[in-house]
Amino acid sequence: MVRDVDRVLVSRQAIAVRVRELGRRLARDLENELAREGHADDAGRVVLVPILTGSIVFVADLLRELPMKLSVGVVAISSYPGRSVESKGAAIRGELPPNLAGRHVVIVDDIFDSGQTLSLVRRLIEAQRPASLRVCVLLRKDKPRAVPCPEPDYVGFDIPDEFVVGYGLDFDGYYRNHPEIVSLRGAARTH
Ligand code: IMP
Ligand code: MG
Repeated sequence: MVRDVDRVLVSRQAIAVRVRELGRRLARDLENELAREGHADDAGRVVLVPILTGSIVFVADLLRELPMKLSVGVVAISSYPGRSVESKGAAIRGELPPNLAGRHVVIVDDIFDSGQTLSLVRRLIEAQRPASLRVCVLLRKDKPRAVPCPEPDYVGFDIPDEFVVGYGLDFDGYYRNHPEIVSLRGAARTH
């Protein structure tokens, strides 16, 4: 796996520091939201919605920075079927978490790329009328979005418009377990 790495864009250490910062900011914002409503932070009104499969590593680290009582409801979206590196449009696979009405929802995704995934998931969740909706992504690619989509509220790192893997992101299902964000050597994409 290490042989396939071209360049490290974000180190393990930098990810760890930034995820803790994002977690602290998100926790503070959610706690303020709950306080404004007169709810204690153990009221169980917060729901994290990680988008599978790319967000699994990020959300596992992020949610442990959030001290309030919360639940997790995953949504599965596929946008890069197989060995493609260009978005083919977002499609939902399976059910959206139910009962988001009146809850404080945080969508968590690995990367804001064309914007198609987040624009679809936002729309579907807004239809359930949550009390608030936030979007938290680890990475944002520097490129024009293919569809109109609001910017995420929390962004870990801005990166150039290149294909990356690691810390949950895959190529053809592989490299999700690589602990840093890296680009792949050309050869790794062809064998
Ligand atoms: P979007 O719908 O084009 O914004 O794409 C979002 C999804 O595509 C992300 O959640 C990722 O799963 C996947 N994706 C986008 N860019 C990359 C990349 O550079 N590497 C791996 N997966 C990516
Ligand atoms: Mg994804």
